[in-house]
Amino acid sequence: MNHPIIEDLLWRHTTKKYDNTRKIPQADLDVFLEALRLTASSINSQPWKFVVLASDAAKARMKHTFGDISPLNQQHVIDGSHVILFGNHPRYSRDDYAAVVDQDIKVARTRPENRDAAFGACVYVEKNTDSHGSTSSWTKAQTYIALGNALHTLARLKIDSTPMEGLDAAAVTKEFAKELDGHECSLALVIGYHHPEGDFNAKLSKSRKPFEQVFTVI
Ligand SMILES: Cc1cc2nc3c(=O)[nH]c(=O)nc-3n(C[C@H](O)[C@H](O)[C@H](O)COP(=O)(O)O)c2cc1C
Repeated sequence: MNHPIIEDLLWRHTTKKYDNTRKIPQADLDVFLEALRLTASSINSQPWKFVVLASDAAKARMKHTFGDISPLNQQHVIDGSHVILFGNHPRYSRDDYAAVVDQDIKVARTRPENRDAAFGACVYVEKNTDSHGSTSSWTKAQTYIALGNALHTLARLKIDSTPMEGLDAAAVTKEFAKELDGHECSLALVIGYHHPEGDFNAKLSKSRKPFEQVFTVI
């Protein structure tokens, strides 16, 4: 199929070795981060905090959290240009939603006199809060929408990436507690440029299940 969207999605792959000499130009990084900010989420809750690890010191802190697990992922953190931590809110509440409502008022999407009514959407917060008061499964799902958006945006920008669930969530959440500002993190994304020889995945063909196994058209 010939289409720029399909070409982008065929171009992208999960990088398995980064060229540690290359950094993402600031202009591209700015576009990427703005695209991430524009990600859609349930009731526009935006129950996330993205922490961008740009410095060697910040990346070293991240590497340290792995301990003995995922040596390959650890190396990506060091060799990649940047690492994004995807933090999700563990106990999202009506108070958190107030920031969304007030921003809606600020941009004249909601009239100030309709502020109370705007909180009606919080029925979805209640619906997605479990018996222990946790909203993690709902807010974590929203961060995966951001991940999908990120992967597609990066493909368009011709920036390589490695989504990463292979990390020690408790250790990352603890190490970056201040920056995550009450959010928990079990998902990260390394971005940069693949190593021309060392990235075995760049040379492999794209593999996905065939159309008939994935879709049912009725
Ligand atoms: C949510 C998620 C978590 C992933 N975690 C890791 C990981 O920890 N380490 C890694 O090398 N690849 C990881 N991957 C990459 C997948 O294995 C990869 O996307 C999949 O095999 C498809 O290959 P492609 O991305 O090259 O098209 C992850 C992908 C996703 C979407």
